Formats: sequence, C-alpha cells, structure tokens
Amino acid sequence: MKIFLDTASLKEIREAAKLGVVDGITTNPSLLAKETGDPEQILVEICNTIDGPISGEVVATDAEGMVREGRHLASLHKNIVVKVPCIPEGLKATKVLTGEGKRVNMTLIFSPTQALLAAKAGARYVSPFVGRLDDVATPGMELVADIIEIFDHYDYDCEVLAASLRHPMHVVEAALAGADIATMPYAVFKQLVRHPLTDIGLEKFLQDWGALQKELKEGA
Ligand code: G3P
Repeated sequence: MKIFLDTASLKEIREAAKLGVVDGITTNPSLLAKETGDPEQILVEICNTIDGPISGEVVATDAEGMVREGRHLASLHKNIVVKVPCIPEGLKATKVLTGEGKRVNMTLIFSPTQALLAAKAGARYVSPFVGRLDDVATPGMELVADIIEIFDHYDYDCEVLAASLRHPMHVVEAALAGADIATMPYAVFKQLVRHPLTDIGLEKFLQDWGALQKELKEGA
C-alpha cells in the first residue's frame, strides 16, 4: 500500500520525507488555506520535495472552470494530479482532463456509485472519505472495501485512495481491505512507527551491551 500525507505543510512534508516511505501528497483547499504563502508556489515546492503524485484541487464548480483550473494546475509540475469533486460537473471535467492525459483524483467520494462513475470518467484515483462517513455513524471503511470489490470485477485504471483517515487503526483497516493508497495527516503518520515495546526493548539491548563492554574492559 502506498502511503500519502494529507497535508500542505512543507515543514511536515520535509520531516516525513526523511523517513523514505512517503509516496505522495494530497492537498485540498482547506489544507492550503492553513498555510502561509502562495498556494501554487507551495504546491510546486511540495512537488520538488516528494517525487510522486501530488494532488492539487480545483475550486471551480462548473466543468469549464474545472477544466481551465485543472489544465493550469497540471502545467505547474509533472507530479501534479488534478483533484476534482465528485459532482456531475466534476465528471464532465474529469472526462475532458483525462482525455488530455492529465491524471485526476476524484474526491469527496461517499458512495460506491460515485466511485464507479469516477472510474468510468477516467479518474486515476478515487478518494473515499472514511472519517467523514464515520462521523455520521456510517462505516467508512465498508465503502473502501465495496469500491475495491467493484473495481476487482473490471479493468479500470483507477486506484483506491483511502482518505479522511483519522488514526492508525484506519490505516491498518485500509491495508487489510487492500486499498492501493492511504492518505493521512502527519500526526497519524508519525504514530505508525512508534511502539513502547520497541523503545523498552531497544533500551534493554543497549543496557546489556553497555554492561558487556564494561565487563570486557574490566577483564582486559
Ligand atoms: O483527504 C481528505 C481529507 O483531507 C479529509 O480529511 O479529516 O477533514 O475528513 P478530514
């Protein structure tokens, strides 16, 4: 499973990149609004930091405007994936953009039918929002599993990108379901590698090694 960070923070992206396991980045207008600076420059800088798919979202709500913004976003850097909301105008725009060879991440997916239509329109990625479904007492991960099952029957060139993940267990469940990608906040990413037993175990190994070195030195 590919790991994406769901952030527009260059500080977080640079820190995470050092671990060598981040495959891409997803941003959205809300995440870019949290940062200071020109959003386009931030996107380009993200592309220069992580050599993988970097989603930048259109804000127009009509197909023509989405296509115009999508073309512009895609022209900023080869790594840019155009993020388009799953509404009827978004499907129209996706069909045009993918026909021109641009990669589209269809976002705000809350049902299997939306994912199916996104794939048919040529989207390269679909982003089911797990946490936001959980928020309204609907099991978000079941949507991910349903989309994977549907896509397994066909030949769409479309990856399932589990989004709106809020904690490590969401990441585990996305992997168990067979999601192609999980995108998560930096805070969640940092939790994935930590385990108190690893820290305790390492401390004990180092203590025992230190004791052995002391013994060897004293015996010499
Ligand atoms: O990738 C989508 C994500 O940004 C939404 O997450 O936590 O706002 O539902 P959240």
